[in-house]
Amino acid sequence: MADVIYMDNNATTKVADEVIEEMMPYLREKYGNPSSMHTFGGQVGKKVTQARQQVAALLGCEPDEIIFTSCGTESDNTAIKGTLEMYPNRRKVVTTRVEHPAVLTTCRDLERHGYSISEISVDRKGNLNVDELGFRLDDNTAVVTIMYANNETGVIFPIEQIAELVAERGIVFHTDAVQVAGKIPLNLKNTPVNLLSLSGHKLHAPKGVGVLYVRRGTRMGTFMHGGHQEAGRRGGTENVPGIIALGKACQLALAHLEEESTRVKSLRDKLEKGILQSCPDCFVNGETPNRLPNTTNISFEFIEGESILMMLDQFGICASSGSACTSGSLEPSHVLRAMGVPFTAAHGSIRFSLSRYNTEADVDCVIEKMPSIVNRLRELSPFVKSRT
Ligand SMILES: Cc1ncc(COP(=O)(O)O)c(C=O)c1O
Repeated sequence: MADVIYMDNNATTKVADEVIEEMMPYLREKYGNPSSMHTFGGQVGKKVTQARQQVAALLGCEPDEIIFTSCGTESDNTAIKGTLEMYPNRRKVVTTRVEHPAVLTTCRDLERHGYSISEISVDRKGNLNVDELGFRLDDNTAVVTIMYANNETGVIFPIEQIAELVAERGIVFHTDAVQVAGKIPLNLKNTPVNLLSLSGHKLHAPKGVGVLYVRRGTRMGTFMHGGHQEAGRRGGTENVPGIIALGKACQLALAHLEEESTRVKSLRDKLEKGILQSCPDCFVNGETPNRLPNTTNISFEFIEGESILMMLDQFGICASSGSACTSGSLEPSHVLRAMGVPFTAAHGSIRFSLSRYNTEADVDCVIEKMPSIVNRLRELSPFVKSRT
């Protein structure tokens, strides 16, 4: 395939070359089982231990608080359902209206099984109403699950403040940090988060590996019954290459966090400014100071996001409309609807999400192509015609 300009990094990321190099020997030569007694397996076990330390360093926590999983979705599901299992007399989950489907559909399923689900709203900029959260907590609440940052808009929630509020009420707090890990600094030692999810393929590790951080002392059910792996919490032979890859990806992310997030943010800002200046009738969704440095979500009035995506695709430019998991459906993004973005503007929204592999030339190319794409689609749009 010809060169692509990849700006869909909130959907998935390129696996870093350094990460591939690190994991390859554990696919080819060092294929031992980390639980085996022999040296051949033992060397693999040591590498898994090192990966656990690397992940813990990125999160600012202890290695024994890291449980490896298969993906962010598994971590989210287990955090919520595993907590409910521990508090059988509590029947309520508090969450937000803008969570990823990994949390929202889990909650909807729980509702069908008799649990009460309370969803906090957001304002027009995508900010969470923290006062509303305070009112929703009660003695029946088993777990609060609120994402660290939104995958569609990049809006970051005040997780430290929320974690304190929830901890004061003695309730378990889970945060989905899938879009955050490797993009902004994290320090779980000083934040009373009980459970936190992350996913390898969002930070330049391969698909098929994730993490659930479980703070020491947090009560949590068994993920999967089986062997003694992951301190007996999640049985099953480890995804060794994936775990080693994730450890390396976390090490790389931590080593370059500050410089990369500054560089990526300046590219994102340039892209955003360039598009807003050259395309009339468009605006940024979730334009708040607290935003992930790599994400911009722009609504183009009177045209369909899907049509823009198809035209971008002809130039090899990859972006997304709504979240990758919901695009393809005719419903506009639940996140933008929760923010009160008008139906037509929500339909015309595009998310560009950058990574350390994007260049200034990528940004210049997108800025150059967008005005002609938008003008062309507007010429064809029945909404524009009906306006004039
Ligand atoms: C915020 C958020 N949570 C969870 C997930 C699911 O992660 P995974 O694809 O690893 O299951 C995603 C994936 O897009 C996400 O953006």
